[in-house]
Amino acid sequence: MRTPIIAGNWKMNKTVDEAVSLVREMRRGLNEVRGVDRVLCPPSVALAAVAGLLKPTTIKLGAQNMYWEEKGAYTGETSPLMLKGLCQYVIIGHSERRGYFGETDEGVNRKIKAAFAHGLTPIVCVGESLEQHEAGQIGEWVSGQVRAALEGLSAEQVRSMIIAYEPLWAIGTGKAATGAGANSVIGLTIRGAIADLYDEATAQAVRVQYGGSVKPANTAEFMTQPEIDGALVGGASLRAADFVEIVRIAAQVKGV
Ligand code: PGA
Repeated sequence: MRTPIIAGNWKMNKTVDEAVSLVREMRRGLNEVRGVDRVLCPPSVALAAVAGLLKPTTIKLGAQNMYWEEKGAYTGETSPLMLKGLCQYVIIGHSERRGYFGETDEGVNRKIKAAFAHGLTPIVCVGESLEQHEAGQIGEWVSGQVRAALEGLSAEQVRSMIIAYEPLWAIGTGKAATGAGANSVIGLTIRGAIADLYDEATAQAVRVQYGGSVKPANTAEFMTQPEIDGALVGGASLRAADFVEIVRIAAQVKGV
């Protein structure tokens, strides 16, 4: 039985003051929901303030990115040592980082290893572009990303990580995938690749989220799918009522 997990990826939105207000608005509603792991991923400058607000709650905190080195001359980067003790999760390899900031599969793999080395749980993003989707290359592309990301990881590490399947054409476009389509990529391609690399038990243990234009109105469609264990929510996680509603629907549909 995999515990559902809903994470809010705020991306580059909200000042520290705005982040504090947003957390105050959603904290109570999120904290009331049981049986679903809830994670907020504000911008890095707001992590410390948000960590303080979440302390008395069961809501967890995640960073949106980090570098793999612990310290040194890496201007502008955030190290796993800085995140450790502040958050529990870190998003790695989001398509915006891969697309705008040149992140590679190899770098994603190094970051995942660094996260584990410092006790952070990685939320690793994979997903195909519209061109790959239309050319029928989803399986090949996504399983390639999964294989590259997991290179050198133990089965135990894989079982404890989170994977987010986020088709690029569904991110921020309002055009979500279908529940059945995402379910099939997650079950056949992502769990399939993990079963090949490790074993069926590992493939069944890893939690896989869907991400891309998730909102209250389509949450049930995704959460009713057996292979989908939660969602990575962008735009809708910036609206307190919507994000709380998404978490409530997930708890209701998953029957936890
Ligand atoms: P979206 O973003 O919900 O705004 O589509 C999801 C994501 O990029 O994680």
